[in-house]
Amino acid sequence: MKRISLIVVMVGLVFFAGKAFGFLSHKVVRTTSNEILYVSANDPADAKYPKGAKIFKEKCVACHQLTGMGVPGAFPPLKGSDYLKANKSAALVHVLNGSNEAVTVNGTSYSIPMPPQVDNYEDAVSVVNYILNAWGNNYGTVTIADAKKIKIVR
Ligand code: HEC
Repeated sequence: MKRISLIVVMVGLVFFAGKAFGFLSHKVVRTTSNEILYVSANDPADAKYPKGAKIFKEKCVACHQLTGMGVPGAFPPLKGSDYLKANKSAALVHVLNGSNEAVTVNGTSYSIPMPPQVDNYEDAVSVVNYILNAWGNNYGTVTIADAKKIKIVR
């Protein structure tokens, strides 16, 4: 009896240590180019910006991917994007009104148009704050006041 409870405690300890060090909490993602990526299943941005995370996973993943790394040659990365870092308001414009202009991200030009994604300022701010802080991005935040400077045209 004693030995069994000791084993239970040991297994529990290994499990929680694993959780703490994150090595049990990664999932494998295969990109369209078939490379395997390890994505943290517990990105702190998911808990901090739950509404934005939900919108991202519903609308943006198709092109920018769960990894935030996009698809080479077609859809630009959001993870580590120098463009996003330097143009927070442009990200709001992208999600509200879409974009027909080519953008250069980390030295590569992307010219496929992006369709509008959300129809109100609250959703725009939620999803942009998520991408500004997901995948290790540390690009700050935008506010409703920033979003309201943009005219919704579509
Ligand atoms: C149908 C594909 C598609 C969807 C869905 C999509 N995008 Fe895009 N996105 C693009 C393309 C293509 C570009 C680059 C061309 C451009 O900006 O006109 C882009 C560019 C961007 C950029 C600026 C470039 C960069 O990488 O920093 C941001 C920010 C962005 N998208 C955010 C989003 C967010 C947030 C969503 C979801 C709310 C979203 N996109 C949904 C295709 C898409």
